[in-house]
Amino acid sequence: MSKEFHYDVVIIGSGAAGLTLALKLADQCRIAVLSKGELTAGSTYLAQGGIAAVCDANDSTQSHFDDTMTAGGHLCRPGAVRQTVEGGRAAINWLIEQGVPFTRDPDGALHLTKEGGHNHRRVVHAADATGRAISESLIHQARQHSNIDLFPHAIAIDLITRRKLKLADNRCVGAYVLDQRSGHVATYLSPFVVLATGGASKAYLYTSNTDGASGDGIAMAWRAGCRVANLEFNQFHPTCLYHPQAKSFLISEAVRGEGGRLLLPDGSRFMANFDPREELAPRDVVARAIDHEMKRLGCDCLFLDISHKPAEFVRSHFPTIYAKCLEYGLDITQQPIPVVPAAHYTCGGVMADEHGRTDIPGLYAIGETAFSGLHGANRLASNSLLECIVFASAAANHIASQLDQQPPLPTTPFWDESQVTDSDEDVVISHNWDELRRFMWDYVGIVRTKKRLQRALNRVSLLQQEISDYYSNYKVTKDLIELRNLAVVAELIIRSAMRRKESRGLHYTLNYPNLLPEQRDTLLTPHNYDWGGEELIR
Ligand code: FAD
Ligand code: SIN
Repeated sequence: MSKEFHYDVVIIGSGAAGLTLALKLADQCRIAVLSKGELTAGSTYLAQGGIAAVCDANDSTQSHFDDTMTAGGHLCRPGAVRQTVEGGRAAINWLIEQGVPFTRDPDGALHLTKEGGHNHRRVVHAADATGRAISESLIHQARQHSNIDLFPHAIAIDLITRRKLKLADNRCVGAYVLDQRSGHVATYLSPFVVLATGGASKAYLYTSNTDGASGDGIAMAWRAGCRVANLEFNQFHPTCLYHPQAKSFLISEAVRGEGGRLLLPDGSRFMANFDPREELAPRDVVARAIDHEMKRLGCDCLFLDISHKPAEFVRSHFPTIYAKCLEYGLDITQQPIPVVPAAHYTCGGVMADEHGRTDIPGLYAIGETAFSGLHGANRLASNSLLECIVFASAAANHIASQLDQQPPLPTTPFWDESQVTDSDEDVVISHNWDELRRFMWDYVGIVRTKKRLQRALNRVSLLQQEISDYYSNYKVTKDLIELRNLAVVAELIIRSAMRRKESRGLHYTLNYPNLLPEQRDTLLTPHNYDWGGEELIR
């Protein structure tokens, strides 16, 4: 049974970006928020360290601006950086109003922690589970609001645009959405569609992200005809727990901010050999140093040690990390933590302006799925949650100003499943998932070469063909939708990496180890606007 829903705004994603936007608009219009898993499914819930904002009298937005530009290899767009850092304090105040229980000093002031690349203590946090606190508060608020309908287990497959419907002027008018519980595909129609779908780190074998980080928003926007930018800049977090049973559990950068030391297997420190800022150098530098030492020594992991700090200090600052490590038999107050780098954050994404508007009227992109210009070649720690709140607020203002000029929605055909059958060979999907993530890790990882990128491109082209055949013949499932999207985004990452003929920030290639004098974004444009990006991809 095909269903059709009509809303003033459809938001795809229930992380910090999507829910902030929903809450900011909810008094003015009716909103649908979709999440492809539980409402807590994305990266927001996992965020540990905190949210960067200037809250101390000795700090300044200029300093936050400078730190963001430096970490970003001076590729950040200054306007986006200003907008973000200047929105910091208001973002924190709004989160407090929503009930987020940030950690406070005994005198009641917000406790500020430190992370790599920051010249001041400016990371506001809720112990070491900041994302959980934000997520739970925003979901609680959204559930109270009668204008917000929440749709968990609803996975957007593709955007509907007037151009796809062969109508004159282009505009996004909705999305086809698979209800994972019933297996039916519904049509969600709206004059304003917002992509808040998070990142694409699942393109890599080892990641700190959840399984859903498959770049769906980036792939959907690309197929619909939007430009994407700077996708070569995949951030690898230096310290994920290395343990056979731990599925990439993050050890927050705040551990280093509070004095944690990186150690080689023989117990010696090494970061001073790479950067005078040592453990608190920006992430690209630390992850590369760890990768270099692991390859040099041929070892499976290095170590992060905070056991020299008083046990009570460690337990109270990092209760989640302490408890998780203890589950695996590691007492971090007594022993160093085995760590490895893992894919963590997608710095590039769907091109969006200061209001979150993309190339297609009616379509917005905010949060990790967007390229706002904030992160440049490497995101500064804890700037992501801030970006989510600041750009969601900007998009809310922009949408609010357009609400009384809503264009009529076109008649839209239901999703057609008459030509496809149930899959009889799911192994094709699981095999391709594994293959893609492995060659992305091996060939498009922390250190790249022209040859490795070419190999990866050859592999992804073959996968694209197989996935495309499969998609044409079988009913859509969550795994198939994600694999199809991941293959698109993997190709966009590889092509972006091939275009950059220098090493900057997170993109490090042995063929072009130097920095070019000119700072340039890597923009990819779908060739055939009518058919989305697929023609370029093949
Ligand atoms: P997400 O929170 O990832 O949410 C994406 C949403 O989109 C989910 O609801 C998902 O279900 C939905 N979705 C995706 N695809 C579809 C689809 N096809 N259909 C329907 N729904 C869909 N940043 C910081 O600033 N500070 C930190 O301390 C910090 N710690 C981190 C720790 C970890 C372990 C990780 C993984 C990330 C961390 N980050 C941190 C990064 C930050 O958490 C994320 O960048 C940010 O939360 C992204 O928020 P978002 O709203 O854009 O997306
Ligand atoms: C962390 O706690 O180390 C993650 C912070 C971030 O990704 O910004």
